[in-house]
Amino acid sequence: MTRLLDARGLSKRFGGVLALDSLDLSVAPNEIVGLIGPNGSGKTTFFNVITGICGADAGRVSFDGTDLTNASSRAVYQAGISRTFQRSRLSLSLSIFDNIMIGNHKRLNQGLWFNLLSRGRFRLEFEANYLAARALVEVFEPALAGRLLEPVAGLPMIDRRRIEICRALISEPKLLLLDEPSAGMTHDETAELMNDILLIRERNRQLTIIIVEHEMGVIERITDRCVVLNFGRKIAEGRYREVAADAQVQEAYLGVA
Ligand SMILES: Nc1ncnc2c1ncn2[C@@H]1O[C@H](COP(=O)(O)OP(=O)(O)O)[C@@H](O)[C@H]1O
Ligand SMILES: [Mg+2]
Repeated sequence: MTRLLDARGLSKRFGGVLALDSLDLSVAPNEIVGLIGPNGSGKTTFFNVITGICGADAGRVSFDGTDLTNASSRAVYQAGISRTFQRSRLSLSLSIFDNIMIGNHKRLNQGLWFNLLSRGRFRLEFEANYLAARALVEVFEPALAGRLLEPVAGLPMIDRRRIEICRALISEPKLLLLDEPSAGMTHDETAELMNDILLIRERNRQLTIIIVEHEMGVIERITDRCVVLNFGRKIAEGRYREVAADAQVQEAYLGVA
């Protein structure tokens, strides 16, 4: 298979815990891959190692032909990988627009000197950014697109989650990592958010996604392929139906012997 992301032999130890244990994980362009496994199986650690939040003890990561092994978060981001976090990182007092733009280091060119010396360009850049943020938000929720300057604090959970995903998408990544995007949401809200994610992919067939998600209905519906972790090791891989039928997965993950 052609590989967009290729992680080989990744290991990460925290004291006595081997959070990732020689993990091989590859993702093809345009895939939606579900990363599943019990709590503590290493899913978030995998995202953290890939995105330069913590270094790997062993292994290599390549992405789109570039070696990203132990690269800085900035380098990872510039290579085209964006993520959301398990716990919200929105600044509630800031506007929707500002929260989205925090994710946009790529286009942001608004240093003091730039601001002072080129006001015209600054305004053009602001307008371009505003339109890009608006277009993105509109895909998720048209009603929100006209409220970009309102603070995030007034928004319900599902809209906050949408804004976090917009923040990750504003830099036009090739690979989007979603860490439990449905956490804290109802079943219906989750279904709605997954429709949004499918729509985003529909509009941008170049986008590749790895999603960590507990709701198996969601995983079945939106993923092309799943990778199952247990104790930092890959215990199964394949279409949801295949992995869900796997005895080892049932034992580890679904708690059925
Ligand atoms: N920063 C850290 N410091 C110490 N232990 C950690 C840290 N991050 C994760 N771990 C441990 O690594 C294991 C995997 O955690 P994590 O990747 O968060 O699992 P998951 O996201 O699958 O629930 C757990 O045992 C967890 O306690
Ligand atoms: Mg996690």
